[in-house]
Amino acid sequence: MSQSLAVLGGITAEQFLNEYWQKKPLLVRNAMPEIIGLLEPEDVQELALEEDVTARLIRQKNKNPNEWHVKSSPLTKGDFQKLPNLWTLLVQAVDHYSFDISELWKKFPFIPQWRRDDIMVSYAPKGGSVGKHFDFYDVFLVQGHGHRRWQLGQMCDESTQFIPDQPLKLLPEMDIQFDEVLAPGDLLYVPPGLSHYGVAEDDCLTFSFGFRMPNLSEMIDQVSDKFAENTLLKNPLADIARQQTAHLGEINEVEFSYLKTQLLDYLTKAPEFDAAIMAYMSESSYPNNIPEPEEVEASDLSEIIGTGYELILEPASRLLYRMQNGSFDFWANGENVCISKPFAAQLKRIADGENIALDESFNDDAVLEDIAMLLNNAVVMLLPPQE
Ligand code: SIN
Ligand code: CO
Repeated sequence: MSQSLAVLGGITAEQFLNEYWQKKPLLVRNAMPEIIGLLEPEDVQELALEEDVTARLIRQKNKNPNEWHVKSSPLTKGDFQKLPNLWTLLVQAVDHYSFDISELWKKFPFIPQWRRDDIMVSYAPKGGSVGKHFDFYDVFLVQGHGHRRWQLGQMCDESTQFIPDQPLKLLPEMDIQFDEVLAPGDLLYVPPGLSHYGVAEDDCLTFSFGFRMPNLSEMIDQVSDKFAENTLLKNPLADIARQQTAHLGEINEVEFSYLKTQLLDYLTKAPEFDAAIMAYMSESSYPNNIPEPEEVEASDLSEIIGTGYELILEPASRLLYRMQNGSFDFWANGENVCISKPFAAQLKRIADGENIALDESFNDDAVLEDIAMLLNNAVVMLLPPQE
């Protein structure tokens, strides 16, 4: 952890997490040269037209660039005809479509996978932008092609006012504190709440490595959905040791705190609670990107053992685990995953982002059954032998 990282401009992960993460921006020149050339502008346009891709086309009126228009996917070829001068195409989760792009997450080994959301790419011609705004999440903005001028301003929060009647949450003004042009490979970390404004200087691709955190409202929804499945909870509670009362309209403090304690006590020990949180955290934000693999059987796998195949995490899937009483509890794409004990240590390594060679150590019927099940559910995938 104390090693200095090129992606952070030579500071350590520890220093970055203490001084910058969720607090202040960081600009690193030539932080990620590997990103250059992974996508070209034409690739982004082609990808945006594909089925199931989540994309948005943002346009500013020629006559009045303060008038914005947003079209969400499905996008069609017609959407790209007669474009105004200023536009931006945003394509979400490009890491789900390209191994080379999903590998780039490894540049941030100090943030666990459950915090990752997706890598979005934006394509804009000179002058294109998505306006002055802020996001509620951490983002590393990495220039992939062309140049983008980034301005950073004041911190914002829930009370920040937006320009009315626009399809985007745009800020009326920014108090500029930072003004730099990013070239291919340069990186800018923007913490949650910090206002930012990126304008393309030429034909430009910017990759946004976005991180997610759950909100309490969604967590409560998930937990209550899980509780709804438990019919025992529909039984009325027993009454408290009842005392006579003259105040028939009152729920007295003892009664009220009895009801509240019953609820809170159950919540703290309910097995549904942990399951709901793990299911939620392991859900993909883009489940349509999870491919439908060809069915394999354990016997197919035993034939390729030792021939150079590797097991890796399917880029569109989420695989997380918890250590509980000394054993692993795996969750993938919102579901609990039961696997045989001998495979747990290997699956942990896959969830941590490692490629695992399908070697003789996997020559066990139960383990091969597990692997076949994970392949058939597109949680992991097989990487053929490299030439
Ligand atoms: C962009 O790439 O134009 C927008 C990315 C962002 O502001 O988060
Ligand atoms: Co933003």
